[in-house]
Amino acid sequence: MTLTRSSVDVALRGRRLRRTPGLRRLVRETRLHPDMLVQPLFVRPGHEVREEIGAMPGQFRLSPDELTAEAARLRDAGVGAVLLFGLPGDKDDQGSGAWADDGIVQQALRTLRAADPELTLIADVCLCEYTSHGHCGVFAGDTIDNDATLPLLARSAVSLAAAGADIVAPSAMMDGQVAAIRRALDGEGRQDVAILAYAAKHASAFYGPFRDAADSAPQRGDRKSYQMDPANGREALREIDADLAEGADMIMVKPALPALDILAAARGRTNVPLAAYQVSGEYASLVAAAQNGWLDRRAAALESLTAIARAGADLIITYFAAEAAEWLRKEPE
Ligand code: PBG
Repeated sequence: MTLTRSSVDVALRGRRLRRTPGLRRLVRETRLHPDMLVQPLFVRPGHEVREEIGAMPGQFRLSPDELTAEAARLRDAGVGAVLLFGLPGDKDDQGSGAWADDGIVQQALRTLRAADPELTLIADVCLCEYTSHGHCGVFAGDTIDNDATLPLLARSAVSLAAAGADIVAPSAMMDGQVAAIRRALDGEGRQDVAILAYAAKHASAFYGPFRDAADSAPQRGDRKSYQMDPANGREALREIDADLAEGADMIMVKPALPALDILAAARGRTNVPLAAYQVSGEYASLVAAAQNGWLDRRAAALESLTAIARAGADLIITYFAAEAAEWLRKEPE
C-alpha cells in the first residue's frame, strides 16, 4: 500500500473550474463593486484650482468651486462615497480651522451637497491639517494632551455635521474620541450622523505622500505616542473593541495591505461594517511602478483591492476609487 496517489486518480482537479472565463466568474468568491469604493478628496482655498499632488500622480488639490464637476464625475463612475480632507488658508496651534463655520471642508461639504443631494459625504475629523505644528492634537508642554484635544475634535465633528456630513471619521487616535464625538453630536441634535472610527491605525511609513498632499507633516517629533506600533496586532483588536464600546457605527483598519491580518481578525470579531483604507503610500508605490512599466496599473490596483475585500473589508477607501469604479463598470473582471 503506497501513500502516494498516481497521477491519474488525483482527487483535486482545481484546474477544471479555471478552464474558461465563464467558469472562473461562476466560482469567484470576492467581487468588487463601485458602491463599496470611497474616493478621498483634498480641498484647498481658491478658485478654479486643480493642482496635481507631486507624490500622488492622478490626485489633485481642488478649490471648492471645482467640486461640482468632481461630484458629477464621481456620480458617473458610481463610487459609494467621498472622504474629505482640507488644507486651510491659515493654521494655528489649536487647529481652529477644523471647526470654523466657513472652514475649507465645511465649504466643500455645502458645495457637494448642493451639487448632488445623494452623494454620501464623509468628513475626516483630525487637527493635523489645521495645526501649525502638524500634530493631531494640542500640546501640553512637550506632549500631545489627549483630554484637552477631545473637545476640539468634538467641536469639529459637530461643525462638519452641520455643514452636511453624513458620516464623520475621527482619525486623531486620541483615547475616548469616539465617545466624545458621539456625545457632542447627540447633544446638538445630530443623532443621525454616523461615526466611522479609524479604530486600528498604525504609525505607518505609508502615510508619507498624504502629508505632502495635505501639508500635515509634524514640524517636530512623530505620531508614535498616539498612533499604534505597526508590530501590534492584538492591540489593534483592543482598539477596535474600545471604539465599538464608545459607539462607533463602523470601524476602519489602516493601512490596508500591510494590515490584512488585522482586517481578517476584525471581520471575525464584529458584525459592524468594516472599512479598510488603502493609504497614500500604497497608492503611490503602485502608481510609480506602473509609470515605470514595471506593473500593470489596472491589474495591480484591482488585485490589491480584491485582496483587501477578500480579507474582510466591506468598504475600501482608496485613491483608485473613481478609476476602479470606471474599470469595473466598463469591463467587469
Ligand atoms: C489624519 C490622517 C492621515 C491620513 C488619514 N487621516 C495622516 C496621518 O495620520 O499622518 C493618512 C491617509 C493616507 O496616507 O492616505 N490624521
